[in-house]
Amino acid sequence: MESTRNKLIDILNVHKNSFISGQQLSNQLNISRTAVWKHMRELEKDGYVIEAAPRKGYRIVESPKKVSSNTIHWGLQTKWLGKEVVHKHRVPSTQTVAHQQALNGSSHGTVVIADQQTKGKGRLNRKWYSENDDGVWMSVVLRPNIPPNQAPQLTLLAATVLANVLTKLKIPEVGIKWPNDILIGDKKVAGILTEMQAEHDQIHYLVLGIGLNVNQSSDTFPDEVKDIATSLKLASNQSYSIRQLIQDILFEFEKSYDVYMSDGFTSIKQNWERFGYKMGEKVAINSGNRTWTATLHGIEADGSLLVSNDDGSHERLYSAEINW
Ligand code: BTN
Repeated sequence: MESTRNKLIDILNVHKNSFISGQQLSNQLNISRTAVWKHMRELEKDGYVIEAAPRKGYRIVESPKKVSSNTIHWGLQTKWLGKEVVHKHRVPSTQTVAHQQALNGSSHGTVVIADQQTKGKGRLNRKWYSENDDGVWMSVVLRPNIPPNQAPQLTLLAATVLANVLTKLKIPEVGIKWPNDILIGDKKVAGILTEMQAEHDQIHYLVLGIGLNVNQSSDTFPDEVKDIATSLKLASNQSYSIRQLIQDILFEFEKSYDVYMSDGFTSIKQNWERFGYKMGEKVAINSGNRTWTATLHGIEADGSLLVSNDDGSHERLYSAEINW
């Protein structure tokens, strides 16, 4: 049933600008014309606007705005990422749902999406504000065949994917602030949280969470973050389809992931550094009980930040407070 509907959507998508007759659909899908009609009614329930014209057939006039497992699958151009999509309206956190999915055996590339999160989690135990359906709140289950110490590379990869997607949307001044905050100008628009279940030298699975602020207006953000957060809408004065953004991110993510798996970290590193916030600039750093100034140089394969000190020496930083 599900796959017939997906095939139907694919066919309608190919014939986007013209009608396709009920008979042709019935032949191609090997179902009766009544069954075709019933599928059309179901698609309408999912938010598709379908025009049915006597003697001409059917065509999609508008694709759905709402996010559901079906609407994400429609037009999704990935090979393995998002083959299984779990969509929830309101959950504490998609991270928790994704962990549960992974523990229950969900496959590599399973995607968990929520319209709203009541306990969205950020890095370092911070809260991630995601109570409304105005952003992309998504966690991906990955089962990569890499050693656990390379897992940070996937977080860096995800950051470059988001930066690329936003750049393709012509969002200005996109940057990545180490380790993985996506910025527009000086304000944070997206973040990534990677959680891993691993043992010795093997990753059991990894949950990679992406939070992207999309349609928030300035008064939507709570006081604690309103001066440091932004959204796509605030940056560009237009609203975006969450469904389309999820599809764009999944498509770019799969492409980058496959390149990474075949060619290694080099292209990710180059891409990351291209977007690196304040790269080449001097900043003040606090780490342990030391405070000093250094120039940001790039990232290393272990995810650390490479800085050059004033005496010419280089140093890798794994965790540090940087006065951006
Ligand atoms: C950060 O910048 O601190 C990371 C934010 C990650 C937020 C996303 S939203 C989807 C997923 N579910 C969560 O609870 N957190 C991540």
